[in-house]
Amino acid sequence: MTYDFDKIIERRGTNCSKWDTDPSTIEGVHYPVSNPLPLWIADMDFAVAPEITQALVERARHGVFGYPIVPDSCYEAIIEWEEKRHGWKIERDWILFSPGAVPAAHMAVQAYCQPGDKTILQQPVYYPFFRTIYNNGGLVVNNALSLEGERYEMDFDLLERQAADPRASFFILCSPHNPVGRVWSASDLERVGDICARHGLLVFADELHCDIIMPGHKHVPFASLNDACRDNSITVIAPSKTFNLAGLQATVVIIPNPRLRQRFENVLSQNSISKPNLFAITGLEAAYRHGEKWLDELLVYIKGNYDFLVQTLKERLPQVKVLPLEGTFLAWADFSALEPDPEKLQRRMLTEAEVWLDEGYIFGSEGAGFERIVLACPRAILKEAIDRIVRTFG
Ligand SMILES: Cc1ncc(COP(=O)(O)O)c(C=O)c1O
Repeated sequence: MTYDFDKIIERRGTNCSKWDTDPSTIEGVHYPVSNPLPLWIADMDFAVAPEITQALVERARHGVFGYPIVPDSCYEAIIEWEEKRHGWKIERDWILFSPGAVPAAHMAVQAYCQPGDKTILQQPVYYPFFRTIYNNGGLVVNNALSLEGERYEMDFDLLERQAADPRASFFILCSPHNPVGRVWSASDLERVGDICARHGLLVFADELHCDIIMPGHKHVPFASLNDACRDNSITVIAPSKTFNLAGLQATVVIIPNPRLRQRFENVLSQNSISKPNLFAITGLEAAYRHGEKWLDELLVYIKGNYDFLVQTLKERLPQVKVLPLEGTFLAWADFSALEPDPEKLQRRMLTEAEVWLDEGYIFGSEGAGFERIVLACPRAILKEAIDRIVRTFG
């Protein structure tokens, strides 16, 4: 490998959410917790591709940080990346920017939904979506994924009934799916597209994890499926997960339909959100232009971490079932055979194992008994976390 993903980089004391957040602020925790090993928030403990750091340093050296523009070369880098990696040819006019995917989801709800409208999502799912809807006066409808053997599947019959409700207007697609790690097939996505289009639901496709795909799987951009999906969707991509740039807050919002795009632009304008900040622009372009080799090696390392987790738990804690990983750098593991009470599981994980994971129940009640484990860390950190878990629960 060219890049050293084994290298441990001290992140404590760098204003880092993952390592510097006070664990006493964890939701639902009312007991002392001291210094747990953090594998909870979805960012990576790896240094970014050197070309990205170099571009940012060069920009910083210039020493003048006035208002930026987004250069043509940045749009070109986004367009080339999406076509090269996912075969979707997007047009420059379709591209808008947002400080994040969650802000983009908020703005989309503001742009396209009325208070009291129903948004369908698929639990267990990335939990900030709940706030996105509630913060804007909407109602959540849960098209829960069903666990069939080791695989989560979409419940299309239920979706058909839920979408037929006249107050249902919006569907949040998480593709690949955080936290269950599914990479949806073209036929799954086509069925979602068909149901939503027939019942007049707009699709918000959160494709933030689209570049973190395991061997044997292929991400299909929702909007690339057919003209109906293209014209009935808002897609969000970013270098944040792919290249570990979440702190730069550079998110790309792709809206091919001009009528929908205008409404989103109106909300951007109402909130006076114009362009990404200049380091976001520099980092985003450098990542999409120069990060591919780093990403390809990263994917091998993530797969190695996943295999290491599965193998070690199989040998040392076989009651834990780690589900197959198709995409994302997030393992989804069922601990319910060891500790059926989710609150006790959380307490033991934090206070006895001293490992900080995202508890399954926060992704919706269907996740109770599961833990989400971030695999984007040096193997030695993952090993230490597994050792602690085995010592506690073994
Ligand atoms: C599916 C998904 N959407 C959105 C986000 C957050 O994105 P942002 O930080 O750009 O708001 C995450 C972060 O983990 C995520 O997994």
